[in-house]
Amino acid sequence: MRQTYKIGVIVGSLRQASINRRLAEAMVKLAPSHLSFEFIGLEALPMYNGDLEADRPSSVNAFTHAVAACDGLMIVTPEHNRSLPAVLKNAIDWGSKPMEANVWANQPVVICGTSPGAMGTIAAQLHLRQILGVLNAQVVGGEAYIQFKPDLLDDSGAIAVEGTRKFLSAYLERFGQLVLQLRADAG
Ligand code: FNR
Repeated sequence: MRQTYKIGVIVGSLRQASINRRLAEAMVKLAPSHLSFEFIGLEALPMYNGDLEADRPSSVNAFTHAVAACDGLMIVTPEHNRSLPAVLKNAIDWGSKPMEANVWANQPVVICGTSPGAMGTIAAQLHLRQILGVLNAQVVGGEAYIQFKPDLLDDSGAIAVEGTRKFLSAYLERFGQLVLQLRADAG
């Protein structure tokens, strides 16, 4: 049987009814079968404070260990004031320290996001891509800015718009190939 690779899903919104969480759930359904998915929550993380470094809160350790245990990451985020939400940046900051234990380094990552606005999180994703580049994550090329309209998802939570479904399937297929390229040796 083909090996499966564990992908951590990080949603840049804490809202119960988050459209980005719904998009992430729909993307999981489209992904190639050698990827399995586990959502990693940001709810419990305190704001980054260097004074906490001497004895990191257990919620921070749980988060960084969960990320480090993954073979790759899928980050689906809203845009807040033309950038990524503070809750996501905060999580990235915790995971980036200490520098020698940066949990983002060498991780294959696929990023996406949705908003009701016509530009569909383009500014947030470009900032996110820049940050992840600095942290030496391996972000899959291309771009996926999804405008959220009520008919995007069907009643089962799947992508209802055929063009978007095909586009995201191809994007996730390329991410699946990147995971194989970067992780197959370790398997
Ligand atoms: C927003 N929203 C927003 N949308 C966008 O396309 N570009 C933006 O810059 C912003 N800025 C922004 C700032 C703040 C503080 C909030 C609360 C919202 C709207 C945003 O896309 C909308 O609330 C989405 O529903 C957020 O995604 P979730 O939380 O539903 O996943």
